[in-house]
Amino acid sequence: MSAKPKRLVVLISGGGSNLQALINACQSPSHMAGELVAVISNRPDAYGLQRAQQAGIATFVIDHTTYADRASFDRDLQACIDAQQPDGLLLAGFMRILTPTFVEHYTGKMLNIHPSLLPAYKGTHTHQRVIADGGSAHGASVHFVTPELDGGPVILQARLPVLPDDTPELLAARVLEQEHYIYPEVVRWFCAGRLQLQANTVYLDGEALHKPHLFNA
Ligand code: GRF
Repeated sequence: MSAKPKRLVVLISGGGSNLQALINACQSPSHMAGELVAVISNRPDAYGLQRAQQAGIATFVIDHTTYADRASFDRDLQACIDAQQPDGLLLAGFMRILTPTFVEHYTGKMLNIHPSLLPAYKGTHTHQRVIADGGSAHGASVHFVTPELDGGPVILQARLPVLPDDTPELLAARVLEQEHYIYPEVVRWFCAGRLQLQANTVYLDGEALHKPHLFNA
């Protein structure tokens, strides 16, 4: 008998194309031992909510603008997530800084996708910043979330060249395409029980990852 699929909750703020890639991957259970049990958005108008509803996934909105402070928002968010009894928490374009208390509650269970070759270009506007710096390579990283913003250990990266005529929009579109491969891939590893986080080090199949895996597109 196969193991029970891992229960996954996804947090979004916007378009949800990474969410869609995860939905598609979970629709093929032979490839992904995971089930998306809920999608939570901090923005009521996030298009990703429609994607979730079309896929029959429960949706929740916790609008951060109605909270006086970060801690009270995070408390309600945590209660909503924990009611789903998740095995994993996936940030997919979730544009809120989370409090250390919240992050520590999900240590080893929370993943994020970030549009840069971490540790380079933490934070926002990564595509624009790489181009402004005359960088020759860019990409995306999937990492475990730790209290340091975009600072958790990286599991898998996709790397691509910055082209001479790139604009932030063109570069972002090419990076996003890669994100849709690498995020489901890492979630697949996670659901198969192949990934662990111990003392800020990632273990894949029991081996410490001293540098991220590189995805060959
Ligand atoms: C992606 O580039 C993701 O890496 C970043 O925000 C964007 C979200 O896109 N954190 P989408 O909502 O998944 O389409």
